Amino acid sequence: MAKRYLIETFGCQMNFHDSERMAGLLEAAGFELAGTSAEADVIVLNTCTVRERAEDKVYSRIGELRHAAAAEGRQPVLAVTGCLAQQEGSVIFRKSPFVDVVVGTQAEKRLPMLVAEAGLTGSRQIDINPYDDVSFPLGMTQRADAVKAYVTIIEGCNDFCAFCVVPYTRGHERMRPKADILAEVAEAARTGRREIQLLGQIVNHYQAPDDTGCDFAGLLAAVDQVPGVERIRFASPHPRHVTPRLIDAIGALPHVCKHIHLPVQSGSTRVLAAMRRRHTREEFLALVQQLKAGVPGIQLSTDIIVGFPGETDEDFAETFSLVDAVGFHSIFSFKYSERPNTLAAKRLADDVPEDEKTRRLTALQARQTEIQQALHGQAVGREVEVLVDSISRRRETELSGRTTGNTVVNFPGRPELLGALAQVRIERAGAHSLWGRLTDTTPA
Ligand code: SAH
Ligand code: SF4
Ligand code: F3S
Repeated sequence: MAKRYLIETFGCQMNFHDSERMAGLLEAAGFELAGTSAEADVIVLNTCTVRERAEDKVYSRIGELRHAAAAEGRQPVLAVTGCLAQQEGSVIFRKSPFVDVVVGTQAEKRLPMLVAEAGLTGSRQIDINPYDDVSFPLGMTQRADAVKAYVTIIEGCNDFCAFCVVPYTRGHERMRPKADILAEVAEAARTGRREIQLLGQIVNHYQAPDDTGCDFAGLLAAVDQVPGVERIRFASPHPRHVTPRLIDAIGALPHVCKHIHLPVQSGSTRVLAAMRRRHTREEFLALVQQLKAGVPGIQLSTDIIVGFPGETDEDFAETFSLVDAVGFHSIFSFKYSERPNTLAAKRLADDVPEDEKTRRLTALQARQTEIQQALHGQAVGREVEVLVDSISRRRETELSGRTTGNTVVNFPGRPELLGALAQVRIERAGAHSLWGRLTDTTPA
């Protein structure tokens, strides 16, 4: 009987996509998907280490799996992949003797071989080498979503923001050839994916290695032309690389969503400098104005860190006022977490007390909820176009999807609408999503 595998994913979209790739690699090697971890011969934990909590979650999950396997008398092969694997290497074996395989972020193609080897010999396997290989066999990815497809365009990052572990876990920046990206987009569209999400740590730093002069705006224009692609999103752009050309492309290309997730991290120029973000508060605010002018109706979202070393009450007040000034449709906000190897960990004391970080985060999130409620309220009575991307697990007649601006809309409808563009009239607004009803123009 074929060996069965299960992958559990922690972390960002990039990691989710890597899990889809590893699923494809394992299936090509003859493994079959297991229903639960109790049925799996191979369990892969694809991990994240961006904050300490992310790392803690992995170790506690390893503990749970170890207890469950012991109680059931099973000995599955346990593989740890992704950013924690890259960061810790063989230290994981010491901390967790239950782990059999450690595979770094650039060695995922070796996963099936190392898992098989561990299963056969009972000996531990590790590969955290930086292979620098950005190729991936076309059509092998086992996509988890029927409507949306992730496509990586850049691996790694050279920016070394002071707080961030990613350049250490993902290696230096490597661009995928435009031809490979377009082939993958076409394959995704051919298999029914209506929305393409382009991924990179600084996605708008893209320069095609195989097409001189093709930058990120040029790539967007090329993806926009692929038959079957209805929508294009991308994450995450860096404010420093948002060019007038890119703003024009977002405004003009019909399939590019009128939404940008633009991480600001802080509203204080002083803190931004300490973070090595290489832009100021004023530059960010000016950019927001350019985006709003160049792309009417564009919705913005962002990432914010509170309690970075040295962040004073005044600095935090600047973050608070920036959030007020911009009117983001959503924010992801985090308490600063000191990470190994980073410049901040080496040079700066983690000096904002934990309860103060919590106070700042809570205040920011409460204000953001009010802002979202107000912004969403403006949509009531309007008709919006929604790409239907999921069916409620509780009731088959409840659908949900997103507007071009990335707002979640829930409405009654038939499951066959999955993957279709629907017209919905908004009746009610909450802080996190909208509710409405299909208009007569959508085939019911
Ligand atoms: N490449 C993306 C960010 C990837 S990490 C970019 O440049 O925008 C995703 C988010 O996690 C970051 O935007 C940041 O807000 C948060 N983050 C990263 N390191 C962190 C840390 N040490 N503590 C708290 N939050 C962190
Ligand atoms: Fe991390 Fe900065 Fe690179 Fe983003 S740009 S991955 S925050 S180092
Ligand atoms: Fe992503 Fe976490 Fe790695 S956010 S890049 S999985 S550290």
